[in-house]
Amino acid sequence: MDNNGHFREVMAQLATGVTVLTVAGTRAHGMTANAFTSVSLDPPLVMCCVGRTARMHAAIGSTRCFAVSILSGEQEHLARYFSDKRRANGMAQFDSVSWTPGPCTGAPLLNGALAWLECEVIEAYDGGDHSIFLGGVLSATRGPGPSGLTFFRGAFQRVGQSAVGDRPVSSS
Ligand SMILES: Cc1cc2nc3c(=O)[nH]c(=O)nc-3n(C[C@H](O)[C@H](O)[C@H](O)COP(=O)(O)O)c2cc1C
Repeated sequence: MDNNGHFREVMAQLATGVTVLTVAGTRAHGMTANAFTSVSLDPPLVMCCVGRTARMHAAIGSTRCFAVSILSGEQEHLARYFSDKRRANGMAQFDSVSWTPGPCTGAPLLNGALAWLECEVIEAYDGGDHSIFLGGVLSATRGPGPSGLTFFRGAFQRVGQSAVGDRPVSSS
């Protein structure tokens, strides 16, 4: 298959959550990513896919650690900000953002997110024009946010506000 636009359109039918990946230190950086998912429960593993030309690629590749903020329904502006190539480099890009350093990695955890994870890179796999970073979970924390942010057909949408008594579906 060689039609890039068609492939994008097909994949846009999959609604995803939205995260911001962050890295601390001399390669400090943040990047919006929806190619993020859990991989294993025992041990707890996650994965993210990062474009080879993204600044985040070199940042994770050298630091070998990253944090993940799962954005809430009120944080569309952060998803837009951390996918905008015009933002500053390094820690300066976090000046306008409320964040807390992760206890394990020091990477910025965005305040107001639904949940946060900190990870160490266990393995990096070639994934075409992206790399697949497999992360061992060092910490995982849930916040109180009532609604989530999704990306579907190229647009952001707010979802959630689950009622008390809702029964979550168990997946494995
Ligand atoms: C909703 C959304 C999801 C995205 N998901 C990813 C992703 O999973 N992986 C990726 O490499 N880029 C993704 N991007 C694009 C990057 O956020 C964007 O190219 C960013 O500017 C790259 O940043 P960097 O070069 O400063 O690291 C996404 C963008 C948006 C708006």
